[in-house]
Amino acid sequence: MVYKVTREELLRMDEASLRKRYEELKREVHYHNYRYYVLNDPVISDYEYDLLMQELRLIEELHPEWITPDSPTQRVGAPPAEGFRKVRHPAPVLSLANAFSEEDLRAWHQRLVRLDPRVAQADFVVEPKFDGLSVVLHYRNGVFELGATRGDGEVGEDVTANLRTVKQVPLRIPTDPNGPPPPPYLVVRGEVYITKDDFRRLNEELAARGERTYLNPRNTAAGSLRQLDPRITAQRPLRLVTYQILTGEGDLPSTEWETLQYLKALGFPVADADLCPDLEAVREAYQRWLERREALPYEMDGVVVKINDLNLQRALGVVGKDPRGMIAYKFPAREVTTKLLDIRVNVGRTGRITPYAVLEPVEVGGVIVRKATLHNFDYIREKDIRVGDRVYLKRAGDVIPYIIGPVVSARTGEERPYEPPTHCPACGEPLYHDPQEVDWYCVNAACPAQLVRRIAYFASRTAMDIPGLGEKIAQQLVEAGLVGDVADLYYLKKADLLQLEGFAEKKAENLLQGIAVSKQRPLRRLITGLGIKGVGPTIAALLEEHYSDLDALSRATLEELEALEGIGPVIARSIVDWFRRERHRRILAKLKQAGVWPIARRETPQTQPLAGLTFVITGALKTMTREEAKAFIEAHGGRVASSVSRKTDYLVVGENPGSKLQKAQQLGVPTIDEVTLYRMAGETPPPELASGGTVPKTPPARDQAPQPTLPLDG
Ligand code: IVH
Repeated sequence: MVYKVTREELLRMDEASLRKRYEELKREVHYHNYRYYVLNDPVISDYEYDLLMQELRLIEELHPEWITPDSPTQRVGAPPAEGFRKVRHPAPVLSLANAFSEEDLRAWHQRLVRLDPRVAQADFVVEPKFDGLSVVLHYRNGVFELGATRGDGEVGEDVTANLRTVKQVPLRIPTDPNGPPPPPYLVVRGEVYITKDDFRRLNEELAARGERTYLNPRNTAAGSLRQLDPRITAQRPLRLVTYQILTGEGDLPSTEWETLQYLKALGFPVADADLCPDLEAVREAYQRWLERREALPYEMDGVVVKINDLNLQRALGVVGKDPRGMIAYKFPAREVTTKLLDIRVNVGRTGRITPYAVLEPVEVGGVIVRKATLHNFDYIREKDIRVGDRVYLKRAGDVIPYIIGPVVSARTGEERPYEPPTHCPACGEPLYHDPQEVDWYCVNAACPAQLVRRIAYFASRTAMDIPGLGEKIAQQLVEAGLVGDVADLYYLKKADLLQLEGFAEKKAENLLQGIAVSKQRPLRRLITGLGIKGVGPTIAALLEEHYSDLDALSRATLEELEALEGIGPVIARSIVDWFRRERHRRILAKLKQAGVWPIARRETPQTQPLAGLTFVITGALKTMTREEAKAFIEAHGGRVASSVSRKTDYLVVGENPGSKLQKAQQLGVPTIDEVTLYRMAGETPPPELASGGTVPKTPPARDQAPQPTLPLDG
């Protein structure tokens, strides 16, 4: 039961009762922390929790001498530590040998069986291998008294004050009053980590404050825990998972599996693990984790396979710093480091200049990577990426490999800061930069690099689909001076092609054949192939609906284009600008001359009475349902939209119209009734609509819309 206690009430209590209340509160808050942070299953509201904390603080203000390090209030705001004290670990904090493949795993198992035949019968525990920072937590009589980093395995750093701020670190065990009694001494090993989401959020916050961002979740966990000021650590969303009892006194578990159950019962967070009867089950568990990897909220870099029986583990001993009885079975790495040999730039089809990294080849995620994207010049500057740097390279899932940042500590002084080019590397013309945008452009229409890209795009499957004409051949054609724009493709002669390297009769004929066939491609594909900025296959298809050929499209005005549903002012401007250019007009003339001049095939020819008109319907119609009305309009060449906009030509109003009517009135969209709809479509209204028929009050907004001829008999 929780209520708001005042200082006065507390002052009225005698000291013994107050002390009792204090101990009770500490236990309660510990318990609720555990419910909240470990079980994710709070039993009180945040508000109630705050009240408990407040009461606890009030008592501590009255009796500061009562405060012990395990008080929940000590998690935050502890005084800054002066560097970190060194602590000698009570037992070696070992690391793990790695297996990178199934063969490695089997070899490990076979070695152990040879060493100790009992291993053949042994079962295993498979746990996720968290990618965080290893920590060692000391509890005396259930109270957290010391926390250290791994350090060199013998001596670590005392980060107790910081660990106290990590909500999942139990300050007193068991956290649940019904849990097992605390052992007199217990040293637990675990991992401090941060989830992928928290990592992203934290980096965004740091970036917004102009502070240095972290490279990856692991690095963030380490950096956050090793802050000299615990108040900073307290603000970091660190989490804990535990997996081992390093040493202790009392009756302790004798298997890995029991250890996990025991730690959990004491209130430590532990991960899901699998108990595997044999190596085949281990392999399956590994596969399951690998499949879940992407979806998990935290980074894991593999699984840890442990012989379940701790006595057997001990008997197997240690090689160097690695216990023989367990092994890290790693996932294929997705993040590696390699040397950045050079930064070069690509000139895209639109003239956009994008930098990319040339790398010392390295395997990541199962493939050899030689190049990686660097996004843009701002990115290189912000991350301070220098040529010659050792860099972190990431390739996750399906994304293009990219450089995360430099390994600053690996710098030798030989690295060169990168100067972005001021001129196009392909044509030498000065580059253009709009201060509103990140990207730089080569605006030279004759730039050969852009030309190669434009030709390859023109020939790609999205556009004119000319088989075999990729970037390589486009490059050859441009370099040989055979092609200066896409239209030149249609003037190529066999003799031209035969002079190119790698071209024999057959290849030349095939290419010419492919080019000839492409003349039959529909208009929308030709429009796509022109490479007008902002005009992809979807917009091209829309344009085809409204313009019968490139001549018609080249006459389109800005207003007209903007009036089309799906085209905004930026694209409209881009289209108009494209057709206005002299250079482009010449291309069009050459295409026409060569017979590359598709005429839009119309399923809804312009001759249909409602062609080019967009209708919206509101209210109930008498002779048709909504669906039927839509089919009726479409059958007569019109379109039906679901909401009223400036692009609506008519609002068809039935009985009990909705808010669309108001909207139409506001926008000046003409309204018509059902009878008029029939008449506009050239049909005789059914007898039940005998009366009625209105003339639209305002003419359609668009000048290119055909004026309907209204058969106003009656
Ligand atoms: S057991 C004797 N279990 O991985 C070694 N380690 O690469 C005890 N790690 O230093 C380690 N998850 O920091 C173990 N479930 C897990 C782990 C785990 C992450 C870390 C640990 C260790 C490193 C070795």
